[in-house]
Amino acid sequence: MCGIIGYTGSKKSVPILIEGLRTLEYRGYDSAGVTVAEGGRLATVKSKGRLTDLEARLEKSAELLGNCGIGHTRWATHGEPSDTNSHPHATKNLALVHNGIIENYAEIEEMLKGAGYSFISETDTERAANLLDMFFCRSKDPLDAISHAIKVIRGSYAFGIIFKGFEDTIYAVRKDSPLIIAQNDEGGFIASDIPAILAHTNKYYRLDEGVIAKVGAKEISFFDEALAPVEQKLETIDWNVEQAQKGGYPHFMIKEINEEPEALKKTLEPRIRDGLPHFGIDALDGDLFASFSAIHIVACGTAMHAGLVGKAIIEKLARIPVNVEIASEFRYRDPILNKNDLVILLSQSGETADTLAALRHAKACGVYTLAIVNVIGSSVAREADSVLYTWAGPEIAVASTKAYSVQCALLYLLAVRMAMVDGKLTDGEAKAICESMLTDIPTSIEEALKLSDKICDIASKLVAAEHLFYIGRDIDYSIATEASLKLKEISYIHSEAYAAGELKHGTISLVTEGTPIVALTTVSKVCEKTVSGIREVKSRGAYVVSVCSSDLAGKYDIPCDEMLVIPQISELLAPFPAATVVQLLAYHVSALKGLDVDKPRNLAKSVTVE
Ligand code: G6P
Repeated sequence: MCGIIGYTGSKKSVPILIEGLRTLEYRGYDSAGVTVAEGGRLATVKSKGRLTDLEARLEKSAELLGNCGIGHTRWATHGEPSDTNSHPHATKNLALVHNGIIENYAEIEEMLKGAGYSFISETDTERAANLLDMFFCRSKDPLDAISHAIKVIRGSYAFGIIFKGFEDTIYAVRKDSPLIIAQNDEGGFIASDIPAILAHTNKYYRLDEGVIAKVGAKEISFFDEALAPVEQKLETIDWNVEQAQKGGYPHFMIKEINEEPEALKKTLEPRIRDGLPHFGIDALDGDLFASFSAIHIVACGTAMHAGLVGKAIIEKLARIPVNVEIASEFRYRDPILNKNDLVILLSQSGETADTLAALRHAKACGVYTLAIVNVIGSSVAREADSVLYTWAGPEIAVASTKAYSVQCALLYLLAVRMAMVDGKLTDGEAKAICESMLTDIPTSIEEALKLSDKICDIASKLVAAEHLFYIGRDIDYSIATEASLKLKEISYIHSEAYAAGELKHGTISLVTEGTPIVALTTVSKVCEKTVSGIREVKSRGAYVVSVCSSDLAGKYDIPCDEMLVIPQISELLAPFPAATVVQLLAYHVSALKGLDVDKPRNLAKSVTVE
């Protein structure tokens, strides 16, 4: 997904822009560019490809020494990745960077053609830039031009703009796409995401929708759409630069898997009071839990898979029916929502466009919405009726790991709380589960992390695979869905998750000599059944990796070529170390293949467009 950085101040802007863009690389991009104001002109250099390509081009062009500039990493939405389509987009009077999608760009193009404008790129952004140009030509006032343009534009945007004649100032405005503003002694900054400014300051303003920011080297001011001055809240980030870097690990993904025990403690501890679930810190009214007759968990990708774990555990403990939905389906298929239903939106970033749209749909239907989100103040967090933050810290690797584990943990805690409502769990039983969650989950994951070398050995036998299957039953099947996604996202090996009992209804025809199958067995009541399924594939020549709990490994003769016994933990909580084990497996396969583990091709960390 696109990234924005802007700087105006006492230093040269280019190094700050490049450094800022580098911290945003994790968002995924296919081109990059900068515009620097110098000597009364706006100099733009941009390039398809990685930031190193842009740097090479910057070295060749005349040195850009100006102190005010904007930079962008682009992930193509309108028009292929190319030099021309990359940002910034410049007109005679301004340069613009943009995250998001302008929905009515064709209409705007028609209007502009009538006013004599022509276009060189295929992008919606160039249309927006020219629209701003048209209004600016009329008033010669940047604020006036922006306020007129945003009345015309439909869609999502975070804009950073420099106008000719105002070359020491960056203007910014946003809708449905995040943007932050910051300042230190050396200047003012705009950025689409926190890591881009962390090297300079830990204080920032999260720009409200429709508020226009005027960012100077020494002064920042904010205006509403009628151009009346407004205040924005200054916030402090408790993530330091170190946290946003790799911390000695070869990849962010393995660093983040290793952060799981700590992330889980941070998520759970503040919500367990006197041994029981308590959401006072989130200002969640306890009575709320008594009022729901059905739950819909709506999310995308990994978060949706955490939802599947949530469904298994809420239905098991609280006996409330749970429907897990892909957000992009939910938003359009007119789901049946009753007034006593609860819609839970799960999202690491809180900016996923489909999840945000699903939230808005649920709210429009008058249903109570609860967001479980990692990024504080993100759009989903702000718009939901209530929010539980997962507090996993920044997740940089595109493939989500620790965010998934903490999402699962919060769903477990909600399940326990809901089960207490009418005595499905006694206080004693609930306390025992909470106690075990606080201590055994982090410990068992620490133990699982020690299996990393063994998992790496097994991974070396999978690197040549063209396709493989993950199988399991019950909650093991939920874990299998995420295990499979993780592997295919980062190793480019085709993989599928199958309910172990379903293989025989078709997919087993794909199993031949050497086909790798990863079989999860942590659920005692169906272990024997899964073992029968494993026998069926084994007898057809499959290469079976068993991921099983220690109790079940002792009790059943699991036919397999490799066995990964997950650390001792109660059956209820076994999904946590099991998830870590399969995340490590995916990680090692990708790393052994020498792939770009943290930035897999075609994927973006945060998909803020539809
Ligand atoms: C993208 C990412 C996935 C992520 C999904 C949902 O597709 O590549 O890793 O799971 O978005 O993201 P969210 O921020 O809403 O959890």
